[in-house]
Amino acid sequence: MIDRGRLERHIAELSAIGGKGTAVTRLGLSREEQRARTLVGDWLAARGARVRRDPAANLWARFDSAGSEGRSPSILLGSHLDSVPEGGRFDGALGVLCAIEAVESLMDLQAPLRRPIEVVAWADEEGARFGVGLFGSAAAFGRLAPGVAERKDRDGVSIGDALRSLGETGDPALARREPKDFAAYLELHIEQGPRLADAGRALGVVSDIVGIYHARVTLRGRADHAGATIMSARADTLAGAAEIVLAVERIARAHPDGVGTVGEIAVRPGAKNVVPGECVFSLDLRAARGHEELVRRVLAEVERIAHARGLQASVDELARVEVTPLDRGITLLLRRAVKDVGVEADLFVSGAGHDAQNAQLSGVPTGMIFVRSSGGSHTPREFASLDDAALGARALAIAVRELAA
Ligand code: HGY
Ligand code: MN
Ligand code: MN
Repeated sequence: MIDRGRLERHIAELSAIGGKGTAVTRLGLSREEQRARTLVGDWLAARGARVRRDPAANLWARFDSAGSEGRSPSILLGSHLDSVPEGGRFDGALGVLCAIEAVESLMDLQAPLRRPIEVVAWADEEGARFGVGLFGSAAAFGRLAPGVAERKDRDGVSIGDALRSLGETGDPALARREPKDFAAYLELHIEQGPRLADAGRALGVVSDIVGIYHARVTLRGRADHAGATIMSARADTLAGAAEIVLAVERIARAHPDGVGTVGEIAVRPGAKNVVPGECVFSLDLRAARGHEELVRRVLAEVERIAHARGLQASVDELARVEVTPLDRGITLLLRRAVKDVGVEADLFVSGAGHDAQNAQLSGVPTGMIFVRSSGGSHTPREFASLDDAALGARALAIAVRELAA
């Protein structure tokens, strides 16, 4: 059913875009992400899909077979093509490629599809450049925060600018689709953790996705001479940030299945002999239970530490996605499909965020298949085997065939 050679070629060709060794850098709304959309769009068009890019730069490919002409709702499947800086070749990309392989293999079999099928490649899922994660799917499902198009990258380029330089209007809200357009959304994704590998299982099914909070914290103190300013007279924002980073770690460790990360930090003016007068850093807080409490406790610590050190703290919230239980019916269907390819699928809570959250939270019945991965993720060490990918694509094809029958 699955054409392994075709899938292997697609993985290799896509990995070459923004690729360097086993690393991939394809930031959201970048030229590399656009090249990836063009490559993937050409493959889909060659199989007869109507391909278009929407105002948020999501790529849509619609297959209307004889029995489904113009009918609605469609079955939606896909994932994202962008990566983090020096990320892996499989995060997101494998989901898009297995979606393509699933549809192509059903077409090769001339399987009767009585519903339209849509394949989507979401834009800027990682939010690595502008800070807004799940961007493309948030735009499609009307879940963007106000003013998001004005958010700028480190070079001062806004999301609106980046969309306009791609030839779009610059207003991502115009990408909105109606959730009722879709009977289901299926996303295959690498697990990005060790659980499937530890269990010796090729595939798993996702039951829930953690709640995610992203923000940018700015601490304002007072730049001063590093030599002439005694320690008791300082308002040192980097020292304050350091205390907050350790507090994030302490609070997240104490929270059942909570995680907290400060992945970005910058100081101004940034010279060895100047006490840092300003420090900006990121917050990434996640939990499957009590997520709001985790966020509340960390933000309270930010305020307490800043106040104790005579610093001003401001918190710019970038994204807040609640804990997302996926659709029980779709999850059961995916477990059956995974069993059909010979794997007893365990259920997993995903610690990684996914575009599937925006689909499910907008009312589209959504499910996810996990494919075993090794080497961690968001690193060039990330790896998934062709065998496991082909098994995942076959399970996806079985699920699509059942939903579209
Ligand atoms: O950060 C995440 O969980 C996803 O990789 N964007
Ligand atoms: Mn990722
Ligand atoms: Mn991903």
